[in-house]
Amino acid sequence: MLPRRPLRLAPSLLSADFAALGDAIRAAEAGGADALHLDVMDGHFVPNLSFGPALVESVRARTRLPLDVHLMIDDPLRYAEPFQRAGGDTLVFHVEARSDPEEVVRTVHRLGVKVGAAIRPDTPFSRVEPLSDKVDQILVMSVHPGFSGQAFHPEVLPKVVAARARLDELGRDGDVSIDGGVTTETARAASRAGATFFVCGNSVFRGGAIDENLRRLRAAIEEGAAGAVR
Ligand code: DX5
Ligand code: ZN
Repeated sequence: MLPRRPLRLAPSLLSADFAALGDAIRAAEAGGADALHLDVMDGHFVPNLSFGPALVESVRARTRLPLDVHLMIDDPLRYAEPFQRAGGDTLVFHVEARSDPEEVVRTVHRLGVKVGAAIRPDTPFSRVEPLSDKVDQILVMSVHPGFSGQAFHPEVLPKVVAARARLDELGRDGDVSIDGGVTTETARAASRAGATFFVCGNSVFRGGAIDENLRRLRAAIEEGAAGAVR
């Protein structure tokens, strides 16, 4: 069994005030965030629009934190390079999108950045399993993609267990990420299931002090890992 990866918290800027993103980034950094998560939506793959490479570039100029770019778009192959050039460190695409997943993985790696493969709550683990030995991250969505502030779907947790088990079996030290409705309570459960990367939107930026929110989330994921299922 591999030593467990470090547990990382990635605030999602989708829940921040877009007119004051610089403040949100500074506060997340000061509170000990390990990465920033940027949700890109095209109005096709999901019924919402957010932002494109220009915003990622502006965020890149303000922080040294790794940028985890979550592409909720139909054609990740077409946009991989613009998001890499904008400063993304990990490009996370959906296996349900139109592009061929294997080709996206190859293309992103060729661009010299990390790649993550994401599945929606209703997509079985078997859809992403064949990529387990090639990707740097498997992202299990715990809400239907498109909007922040939704409630966590606990029925996705067995997919977190399965992803962690498969990565262990392959001797890969990739992250299993959980995204959507992550609160102290659900973060603890996801950590217990084997998640190592936690995307948090509303629980960081909507209500309370950002540093205190991050401190509580950190304590929860450490507690969860201490009682992990493996
Ligand atoms: C949903 C996005 C999530 C979302 C998380 O489509 O992928 O990253 O912003 O926000 P919360 O934590 O509020 O669910
Ligand atoms: Zn996301």
